[in-house]
Amino acid sequence: MSGNLLEIRGLSVSHAGAFALRAVDLDIHAGAKLAVIGESGSGKTTLALSLAGLLPPEALVEGRVDWPGLDRAPLTGRDTGLVFQDPAASFNPVIPVGEQVAEGARRHLGLGRKAAHELARNLLERVHIPDPEAALTAYVHQFSGGQLQRIAIAAAIAARPRLLMADEATSALDTVVQASIVALLEELVREEGMTLVFITHDLALASNLADTIAVLKDGILVETGPTDQVLVSPAHPYTRRLLDAQIDLSAPRLVGEAC
Ligand SMILES: Nc1ncnc2c1ncn2[C@@H]1O[C@H](COP(=O)(O)OP(=O)(O)OP(=O)(O)O)[C@@H](O)[C@H]1O
Ligand SMILES: [Mg+2]
Repeated sequence: MSGNLLEIRGLSVSHAGAFALRAVDLDIHAGAKLAVIGESGSGKTTLALSLAGLLPPEALVEGRVDWPGLDRAPLTGRDTGLVFQDPAASFNPVIPVGEQVAEGARRHLGLGRKAAHELARNLLERVHIPDPEAALTAYVHQFSGGQLQRIAIAAAIAARPRLLMADEATSALDTVVQASIVALLEELVREEGMTLVFITHDLALASNLADTIAVLKDGILVETGPTDQVLVSPAHPYTRRLLDAQIDLSAPRLVGEAC
């Protein structure tokens, strides 16, 4: 697949008159690994929710998000998968995770119960959950944070979306687990040919993972470009300040350090 998966034009989102995103223009190349960085409140989650069709109904949206390769309107969960910081919040605690992992596939691909069960088992295997058969009937509280994030990723990719978005999906995990989740995302994106939008506060993580970086400030996309270019010669003073604030991008982080 080549060309643009998404073309965002003049996208503005406001809540009760306050802008969360302002006139964002951005092409997301099919197969790209795009990191979206920016401080808290800069509009990163709003961008992801816009692309996933998950903005609250009261949000005022202007502009367009086009999917050039799609001859129908994009479907939430079918064309986009979204993984959040707190995977437990995405799952129902009293329903076995196996049923929840395959729910998107059941809904969008019309799978029957047996096929959905089989798919859920395969997905849990793909995200490297030990003993996937047993995991199918287990509940959220029986998994560690890292395992649960893997299961959330399995659920997000169940309907084989073209776009996988991870919104601070590794922020609550310790560094070792964080690295393993990033490796999993890379593996899945490579094998499935998905496009990845990776939202993070962590510039070092963004620079390791992404081929393209977009920088948001106060809802404005102030810079976008190939990772190397943005890191080596940022065009915008704000990006420069963000880079300067990272004392040493290559410094090893302590295991267990929160980010
Ligand atoms: N549902 C909402 N109602 C009102 N304001 C909102 C809503 N969602 C987001 N905002 C506001 O829009 C702006 C952008 O928020 P957003 O959550 O997109 O930022 P963010 O970059 O994801 O921040 P963080 O790094 O803290 O997650 C913020 O000022 C936020 O308060
Ligand atoms: Mg956010």
